[in-house]
Amino acid sequence: MIMTVQSALYSRRRVLQLTAATGLATSALVRTTSVMAQTASAPLKIATIGAGNLGAAVGTLWVKAGHEVLFSSRNPDNLKGLVDGLGAKARAGTVDEAIAFGDAILLAVPYEAYPQVGADYAEKLKGKVVLDAGNANRSSLFAETQENGVGVTTAKYFPGVRIVRAFNAANHRLFTSNANRPAPRMAVPIAGDDAEALEIAKTLVSSAGFDPLVVGSLKDADKFAMGTEGFGHVLPAVELAAKLGVLAPANL
Ligand SMILES: NC(=O)c1ccc[n+]([C@@H]2O[C@H](COP(=O)([O-])OP(=O)(O)OC[C@H]3O[C@@H](n4cnc5c(N)ncnc54)[C@H](OP(=O)(O)O)[C@@H]3O)[C@@H](O)[C@H]2O)c1
Repeated sequence: MIMTVQSALYSRRRVLQLTAATGLATSALVRTTSVMAQTASAPLKIATIGAGNLGAAVGTLWVKAGHEVLFSSRNPDNLKGLVDGLGAKARAGTVDEAIAFGDAILLAVPYEAYPQVGADYAEKLKGKVVLDAGNANRSSLFAETQENGVGVTTAKYFPGVRIVRAFNAANHRLFTSNANRPAPRMAVPIAGDDAEALEIAKTLVSSAGFDPLVVGSLKDADKFAMGTEGFGHVLPAVELAAKLGVLAPANL
């Protein structure tokens, strides 16, 4: 679903209410509602933290869809080949530059790094929508994610950040090869606790060439965590919804 201008304007009216309710800085909320307003008509500014297999693959899909994308890592010079090949809408930078640039961010670093990346950047990311693609399975945080949930664990390391689980549930090659295929498109499961962030994530997933399937809250992201039966499917939304035991979107 594309966010309508009307709903974006409605969201602007909610800024003051949300500021009071959440304690978030007004500037962060204005930034978010600005993203929602832009989704109706204009390309977005998107950044990736991490530009390896997954960050490069999904970021490339957004560039091809007409968005401006800043790919970041600790070594942005190494990303020159990637961005040069993608043209004027792609650039490389540091993580700080990514956070300043992106209206929305894709987090695509090894899960092992989450405590450090969170400690370094959560404050700067506060109020931003972050699509969290990390899988914890091969990290020392796996036990924690098993106990508390992977989305909940990410949120713990990124307090105040509007986390939506997305793009974690398939190999990057499957995203590249299945994006924008003829209907029915491949579904990408997403989950989060923040309704407005979920709407923005839906727009970004759709723009990358997939049908977003909202599975539920951050805790519900465990239904499509790596290693579960909900992981790794290349299915239309109706079939993936049946597999995950959730309602398929009415428009598909
Ligand atoms: N590969 C897939 O098919 C796939 C699919 C779904 C989900 N995922 C998840 O996506 C995440 C990334 O996987 P990947 O396969 O893309 O890994 P990768 O190819 O090793 O790339 C990791 C990226 O993160 C950067 N990075 C590492 N530590 C960092 C830090 N502390 N701060 C900033 N950037 C850092 C790396 O660049 P520098 O070392 O230069 O900083 C690199 O750009 C993982 O959590 C993985 O579970 C991967």
